[in-house]
Amino acid sequence: FCPKARGPPCGLVNLNLKKDVNKVVDTVDIEDITEKAVFCRCWRSKNWPYCDGTHGTHNQATNDNVGPLVITKKKD
Ligand code: FES
Repeated sequence: FCPKARGPPCGLVNLNLKKDVNKVVDTVDIEDITEKAVFCRCWRSKNWPYCDGTHGTHNQATNDNVGPLVITKKKD
């Protein structure tokens, strides 16, 4: 653990998602994205790989500034 800090070991990003696999890889077919898709980058979402807004709680608790990746469909 990080000295003088509670929480996960230093450098650990993924706290509890898919811990039964060696590497978390998710695939989303771009054809399935209709207007917009919002993907989690804080690794705290309960709707992984999509953002559920939990990054706000994480940011408040840690003074971090992470947010989602938003993919939008190009308008014709
Ligand atoms: Fe992780 Fe929004 S919940 S970026």
